[in-house]
Amino acid sequence: MGPIGPASGRTGSDAVSILTLFAILTLFPEAVEAYASEGILRVAQEKGKIGIECIDFRDFTRDRHRSVDDRPFGGGPGMLLRPEPIAEAVAWLEARHGAFRRIALCPAGQPFHQRRAEEYADEERILLLCGRYEGFDARLLDELAFEELSIGDYVLAGGELAALAVTEAVARLLPGVLGDERSAAEDSFGASGGELDCPHYTRPRVWRGREVPPVLLSGDHAAIERWRRTTARERTLRNRPDLAGNDAGPARTDVSISRPADAGSPRPAHSGSPRPAHSGSPRPAHSGSPRPAHPTPNTRDPHGTRGSH
Ligand SMILES: C[S@@+](CC[C@H](N)C(=O)[O-])C[C@H]1O[C@@H](n2cnc3c(N)ncnc32)[C@H](O)[C@@H]1O
Repeated sequence: MGPIGPASGRTGSDAVSILTLFAILTLFPEAVEAYASEGILRVAQEKGKIGIECIDFRDFTRDRHRSVDDRPFGGGPGMLLRPEPIAEAVAWLEARHGAFRRIALCPAGQPFHQRRAEEYADEERILLLCGRYEGFDARLLDELAFEELSIGDYVLAGGELAALAVTEAVARLLPGVLGDERSAAEDSFGASGGELDCPHYTRPRVWRGREVPPVLLSGDHAAIERWRRTTARERTLRNRPDLAGNDAGPARTDVSISRPADAGSPRPAHSGSPRPAHSGSPRPAHSGSPRPAHPTPNTRDPHGTRGSH
């Protein structure tokens, strides 16, 4: 049997060149799409900077119960995700778009941090696999060469929040996504050295007897900059002493917003890349078209009706 899925996906009519296509494999596409339809992810899609495609890997099961999980060999609590539907979904996706950087969300994975987000921001296609239950059959991760990624030392019930955290952290580093690209550089862990951000103040000048630090009202830009550096350092020492004096993660390589090629201009879509431009739609995840409930095996089109998610 060949791979399950529609004979063709989106085609040229809505093709646009985007910087990064995120494919999120999940059992809860509506939950992911709901978040991806708001805020910066919505704006980034509307600007045509990113595409987000949510794929329900249950649509790639072949049995009539559409089962994605089974009991672990050797016993133990909980269920594991079977490898076959996920492998089919990856094959279907890559047949449409080309190879992805394959990332499986796992609490036992390597830690996600800003340096890794910067690294991912150079990727054209990122696949984020969301687990459930007790996670994945280990053979899937080996066979498909997934890298395992953790968003922190705690255990969630599923990978969806983790996938969205990665998507948003990467998307906001892409040229043209933030209104002011200095924002990312000046954020915590940003290009200004990997320390935490300094404290910030807005109106009113006095609130509950607390005044805005006078230097911020002085108009002396050099003094303001010195104050910001000092308070950022103090905050880093207080909240994250592990970051003080190092670089907030593994050695910093380059930062997307400060790449020489990007200087002053957005990264050209897929310039110089031998890989084809994504035929993704800039539209936000919710395109208004309802997804079919439980399409029938082998004739289903898990994405055609979702159109350009
Ligand atoms: C209950 S967890 C599985 C935990 C797994 N048995 C373990 O202890 O490593 C179910 C799914 O949630 C996701 N998940 C939970 N915590 C996560 C974290 N800190 N980072 C990334 N993904 C996480 C993963 O996709 C995982 O497969």
